[in-house]
Amino acid sequence: MITLLSHLSYVALTTPDVEASVDFYVNQVGMTEVGRDDDGVYLRCWGDYYSYSLVITAGDEPALHSMAWRTTSAEALEAAVERIEAAGSVGEWFEGRDIGRAYRFVGPWGHTMVLHWDVVHHRYTEGDLASTFPDRPQRRSRVAGAPRQLDHVTICASDVDAFAKWYRDVFGFRIMARTVLEEAPISVFSVLTTNEKSHDLGVVLDGSTRAGRVNHFAFWYDTREEMLIAADLLMENGTMIEYGPTIHGIGEQSFLYYRDPSTMRIELNTGGYRNYVPDWEPQTWKTSQGSYDIYRNAGFPVSLSDSFPPADGPTATEEGVPDEIKADLLKGRV
Ligand SMILES: [Fe+2]
Repeated sequence: MITLLSHLSYVALTTPDVEASVDFYVNQVGMTEVGRDDDGVYLRCWGDYYSYSLVITAGDEPALHSMAWRTTSAEALEAAVERIEAAGSVGEWFEGRDIGRAYRFVGPWGHTMVLHWDVVHHRYTEGDLASTFPDRPQRRSRVAGAPRQLDHVTICASDVDAFAKWYRDVFGFRIMARTVLEEAPISVFSVLTTNEKSHDLGVVLDGSTRAGRVNHFAFWYDTREEMLIAADLLMENGTMIEYGPTIHGIGEQSFLYYRDPSTMRIELNTGGYRNYVPDWEPQTWKTSQGSYDIYRNAGFPVSLSDSFPPADGPTATEEGVPDEIKADLLKGRV
C-alpha cells in the first residue's frame, strides 16, 4: 500500500477558558499566536513549517476537537477519502484556514480527524520573527525552553489493537509496538507512525466508553538539554511536572508530562530512534520490561490515567460511535 499520510500537522483542543490557554501557550510554552477567527486561536512553534500547529477553541471541557494529518500528495488525499468511505466512515469536505480543501471525518472510536494536502509554507522573511538561518521558518523563541515543533498525539480507545489495525489498514500507518498487561494478553498501549519517527499517533486503552478521548499531545526538541531547560522553567514558573523527565522504553525518547490551564496533558519529548523498516514487525512489551519508563523505579501516578474529556458523557459502543454522536463530533459540539 502506498503511504497516504506524511505527518501530523496540527492538533485542535477545546478549553473552557481560551484566553488562559492562549496566554499559557504563548508565555510559558513559547508559541506564537498567528491569528484568530470564529473557530479559535491559531498558534505555532518557532520551528513549525506550516502556518500553525495548535488551535485553541472554546468548549465546555478540555478535549481533542480534531487532529490533522497532511497527506503525501493531492492524489493521496482523494485516495485516503475513498478508503475512509469504503471502510464505512463518512465525513465532509470543508475549507480550512491555510489548508484549503480538507476532509473531516469521525473515526470508529470517535476521534475527529482532518486530512489535507494544501498548506501555507510558513517563513517570516522580515521583522522581529525572521531568522538569520535560511531553513528556519521563524527565529528561535525568546521564551527559554520553547519546543521546536509539534510531535505527536496519543488518543484513547476501548480496543487498542482494533484501533491500530483500522488506522493501519485504511491509511498505511505502521504499527511500531504495543504493551500488554502483565497478567493477561490485553493491549493497553500501541504506537503507530506515518514516517521514520517511532510514532506520531499513540493509543491507550480507555476503560470508559466515552467517544473520542485524548490522553496527551506532544511537542519536540532537538536535544535533551533543551528539554531539561524547559523542565527547569516549569519549576521556576510553579507548574507541576506530572511525570519525568525520564526515558520511554518504546521509542526511547526522553520525555516529561505536565498540564496546561485546562488540565490537558502536554508531553515534551526528544531523541529516540529512527525506524525506516517498511515491513516492521511490532514487538509486544510488558510494563515490567520498561515500555513506559526504562528505569522502572518510579511510581506510576494515578493521574496519568486521566484522559480528556472526563469519562462521563456521550459513549461509543462495541459497534462504534452512533451516527447522531458522530454528527455532533463533526460540528465540534461534543
Ligand atoms: Fe506521548
